[in-house]
Amino acid sequence: MRATDMIDKKRHGGEHTREELEAFIGGYVAGEVPDYQVAAWLMAVVFRGMTVRETAELTAVMAHSGDLLDLSGLPHTVDKHSTGGVGDKTSLVLAPLLAAAGAVVAKMSGRGLGHTGGTIDKLESIPGFRTDLSERDFYRQAETVGVVITGQSKELAPADGLLYALRDATATVQSLPLIAASIMSKKLAGGARTIVLDVKVGSGAFMKTPAEARELARTMLGIGERANRNVRALLSDMSEPLGRAVGNALEVDEAVRCLQGEGPEDLQALCLALAEAGLAAAGLDASRAALQELISSGRAFATFEAWVRAQGGDVSQLGHLERAPDRHTLRAPRSGYVARLEALEVGQAVKVLGGGRSRKGDAIDPGVGVVLHAKVGDEVAAGDALATLYHRGGRGFEEALARLEGAFTLADEAAAAPELVLETLA
Ligand code: URA
Repeated sequence: MRATDMIDKKRHGGEHTREELEAFIGGYVAGEVPDYQVAAWLMAVVFRGMTVRETAELTAVMAHSGDLLDLSGLPHTVDKHSTGGVGDKTSLVLAPLLAAAGAVVAKMSGRGLGHTGGTIDKLESIPGFRTDLSERDFYRQAETVGVVITGQSKELAPADGLLYALRDATATVQSLPLIAASIMSKKLAGGARTIVLDVKVGSGAFMKTPAEARELARTMLGIGERANRNVRALLSDMSEPLGRAVGNALEVDEAVRCLQGEGPEDLQALCLALAEAGLAAAGLDASRAALQELISSGRAFATFEAWVRAQGGDVSQLGHLERAPDRHTLRAPRSGYVARLEALEVGQAVKVLGGGRSRKGDAIDPGVGVVLHAKVGDEVAAGDALATLYHRGGRGFEEALARLEGAFTLADEAAAAPELVLETLA
């Protein structure tokens, strides 16, 4: 089927066959189908959706667009993926925590997408950290260090690497089948037996309601089950940012503090919940006390350092990575309680400061971002600091400030902080 016929078929709500998807996606990876035709098809998928069968076929085609790693020689392999959020640095905490608990964490991560951050961009804010490992190095590090995270490569799920960047630049991220296929193709190619999915819900997530998030989780669980993997999914809140730091280097530093037992509370609680789910599914000791001991004894942080070192990162800079030199403090215009703190707006603010991409292939600025001093439920007096922006003068600063101001809603009545973990599905 020609590319124009694929676009037309999906535009009219048709269901693609495996052969059609193989030819189209294969043609894209081979450079025979251009970006603009794939972008048009992606937009048609956003509007018309895909059936469950079609989504599973697309996932399989994307997973098979490169090599499939065989990790069967390693014990208790666990992979984790988030559907994307703001301030979501859980992988940086969870990967070494799981490894310290006896799992082997071998994971392929993505870059920032839309208003959400990406683990690879965060890791690259550590000087020297390499995210382009070969399959051989990936396997060897999983074996020797117990934790490895690499970016998309031409070898592993290359179709997702290409589609991911194109979706980011064409506003075609927000689609349940495209998100499910993107995530699960990477997970299937990555080869881990156990997969823990953090499905985000709320204004800062791609899934705005628990019902949508549950449907996405069930779709991914179904794909994983068909591929004979142990999959667990948690639905977690993304109406306000996770933790207090948003922006690549700022988030790595916050993850370091979390691994040293210094919170923030919501980040720590979510990491512990994800770790419990992953370890239990992998057949390892998953008690909260054991996990807390790994943090308080310094073993989880020592594993983090070993991992960073193994990928070439400069551990001497952890905890104080370079930040953008200009600071601006946003202050409360009145006294009251923080009733809302829109994760989407905070994410957009960091993106326009240069912490995310507007065009495919844009370089990002690791040092810009926002530190939140107040979150939902906190009481503030007029003039108190709500947030600090780290910026570099002109670039996007005015828009970022306006977005950040708009992100906060102050009210007279105290508001409850949102429930962090809404549901666990298996
Ligand atoms: N994370 C991914 O890897 N892909 C998506 O499409 C969304 C979040």
